Amino acid sequence: MSNTQIKENSPIWTPDSWREKPALQLPQYPDKDALANAEATLRKMPPLVFAGEARQLKQQLADVAEGKAFILQGGDCAESFAEFSASKIKNTFKILLQMSVIMTFSGKMPVVKMGRMAGQFAKPRSSDTETIDGVELPSYRGDIINNLDFTSEARIPNPERMVQAYNQASSTLNLLRAFAQGGFADLHKIHKWTLDFVEESPLTKRYETLANDIDNALSFMETIGLSGENAPASISQTDFYTCHEALLLPYEEALTRVDSLTGDYYDTSAHFLWIGARTHQEENAQIEFVRGINNPLGMKCSPDMDPDQLIRLIDILNPQNEAGRLTLISRMGAGNVEKGLTPLLRKVKEEGRKVAWVCDPMHGNIEKSSSGYKTRRFENIRGEVTEFFQVHKAEGTHAGGVHVEMTGQNVTECTGGVHKISDEDLSARYHTHCDPRLNANQSLELSFMIADLLKDNKTA
Ligand code: PEP
Ligand code: CO
Repeated sequence: MSNTQIKENSPIWTPDSWREKPALQLPQYPDKDALANAEATLRKMPPLVFAGEARQLKQQLADVAEGKAFILQGGDCAESFAEFSASKIKNTFKILLQMSVIMTFSGKMPVVKMGRMAGQFAKPRSSDTETIDGVELPSYRGDIINNLDFTSEARIPNPERMVQAYNQASSTLNLLRAFAQGGFADLHKIHKWTLDFVEESPLTKRYETLANDIDNALSFMETIGLSGENAPASISQTDFYTCHEALLLPYEEALTRVDSLTGDYYDTSAHFLWIGARTHQEENAQIEFVRGINNPLGMKCSPDMDPDQLIRLIDILNPQNEAGRLTLISRMGAGNVEKGLTPLLRKVKEEGRKVAWVCDPMHGNIEKSSSGYKTRRFENIRGEVTEFFQVHKAEGTHAGGVHVEMTGQNVTECTGGVHKISDEDLSARYHTHCDPRLNANQSLELSFMIADLLKDNKTA
């Protein structure tokens, strides 16, 4: 094995060496034969992504670590089998394109786009069980594991769901590749990325103005001869990557393959895999698994992350200090960023570790609304992103991106934003299978704010 990530003196890694480690958040499948069958089926399936693509993404993430590009990671908290449709994929893709073009054009920063799509199924839970009206059942752990319905049968982990998830991920990726490379993402189509249901608002006007400016820039380029074969490919197509939490290890292991070009292992279930806030203990199975794959990795950092623990984890995950290998995703909660993130930024800088820093303004800002729904306030999401930029400015480090739960559907799951969604409005279109997502308007509003922060950084 010529795995470049593993230090010579570190214990041998194999795709199944995680099985010897304590595992958190993994389901106990009652039917072991069915589990073995599902794993065998997945091992025979074609890879969903290719090692070369993961390497290309790693290079782009190295630019982020150096402050030369910005990451946009977005999509569902949990993808679902029931809500799988071409129009849903298309709408999420459209919003991600709009968000990215806002940041690129107004913020003057290349944007690396990653969808929490085509594999973001498994969910870590704070509690193993859920109680409703005095009835206690195992928690829902995402469609790849069990079913959301509140019956004891639905909540039994079923390994065949991994095969269904693979098939759904495969069709999702097929469509995403077609959208990204087949003409839809062409900048000349920028006006067509607007969603039908988005009503006229100051935001849509701002987007139209930006789209017209881009039209003008494109016609100028055409006038001076940069059209047809002379036009850069980045005008007519885009790079789009997939990512999800590396949680359900039987699925991840079964899709891990040796790249024939380099002889290195890649987890071909997605381009980028991250470790969640509940599974980053050094001795834990998820950490063991990802240390041996060569995909670019992410790791969530919550307020309880200790700077020394972070360095030990970086030693495990990025022993060669390779820029682009590791992205740290801060999720501190509004009001906590200075206190939680500053010691981590200082330690990482002091130790000379090359990482990209991303802000997840979602997972530290969950609350229960007065109407009973799990929600997030848009003002807290804005607040956490603003604090993230301020702390980086103060420390002389790079605010490298955002990680958001959002959808192209017209949902009412997070309160606030231009349309001032209230606690009472949440019941109108609350569709998420897990955490509340930004809707299209809220996603655009956040993007314009980020573009302004990026612009400020440039002028500073
Ligand atoms: C997530 O991103 O879906 C998630 C569960 O986040 P965290 O691990 O940060 O809580
Ligand atoms: Co979530």
